[in-house]
Amino acid sequence: MTAAQTDAAGRLRHLLTLDGLPRAALDALLDRAQALAADARGGTARRHVLAGKAVCTLFFEPSTRTRSSFALAAQRLGADLLAFDASTASTTKGEADLDTLKTLEAMGVHAFVVRHKRDGAVAELAAAAAPGTALVNAGDGRSNHPTQGLLDMLTLRQAKGADFAPLKVAIVGDVRHSRVARSDLHALRALGCGEIRVCGPAALLPDDGILGGCTVTHDLDAALEGVDAVMMLRLQRERMAEGLVDSLEDYHRDYGLTAARLRRAAPDAIVMHPGPMNRGVEISDAVADGPQSRVLAQVANGVAVRMAVLEALLG
Ligand code: CP
Repeated sequence: MTAAQTDAAGRLRHLLTLDGLPRAALDALLDRAQALAADARGGTARRHVLAGKAVCTLFFEPSTRTRSSFALAAQRLGADLLAFDASTASTTKGEADLDTLKTLEAMGVHAFVVRHKRDGAVAELAAAAAPGTALVNAGDGRSNHPTQGLLDMLTLRQAKGADFAPLKVAIVGDVRHSRVARSDLHALRALGCGEIRVCGPAALLPDDGILGGCTVTHDLDAALEGVDAVMMLRLQRERMAEGLVDSLEDYHRDYGLTAARLRRAAPDAIVMHPGPMNRGVEISDAVADGPQSRVLAQVANGVAVRMAVLEALLG
């Protein structure tokens, strides 16, 4: 069971996925995030917008970027922030996730930002929430990470402009297990990206139809040829234990982005990575810290995008 993401008038009630979100809704969120970027860096102009509202970051999985940037976003809009720590909460005594949500909802929380290891868990919580309570998916299983998709699109727009039709974008790495890749694919398609190339070892590419319309290759050099942007994905190290990757050294040799390889892309190509990065595995230090890297711009855009989302849901 999933909750409808928009109401009858098309307004956002929750943000669970970018899949099926109309282009106009994506553009509106990105325009708003761009306008909020100055306040996202510590401005005070918007501190009244969510005064009297309470936002809870309800993370059942670890996070640095998403949890911290939602916390800053909520505070910069004037909301009360409740940071739920699953490692010290009654979750450890076996309390059900829904009971946790209902308990905090009864205390007056208006919006929950939820990360969960299980696909679909956030949508299930949204379906059970009280009318008027908003849920934001901060990453569920391998399925969706919509605010990461939005901040990636904002970063692309800032570098390349709002017309995605001429763009060639490569997504490289462990696509099969990546909720970031799925949200990026949803958004790139909705925004009309001209060509999406997907590259990785066969064992790390999905076979569930999500790559329809993409150019799929196992050859990184071919994937990089002339692209305007490269989105590198984290190699989830547990994939070695599962036997899907032979060794980190082999992976770096075949799928690691180095400065030499990056020269195959367009001269003004940008490099993105959602973090956390495995330096020396999927990306070299020289690229991660080099002039084409937009990794820290992505992080900065995360605050602005999350302000725009909270404002749309609660403002
Ligand atoms: N990109 C991302 O989701 O990072 P965190 O796991 O640190 O939130």
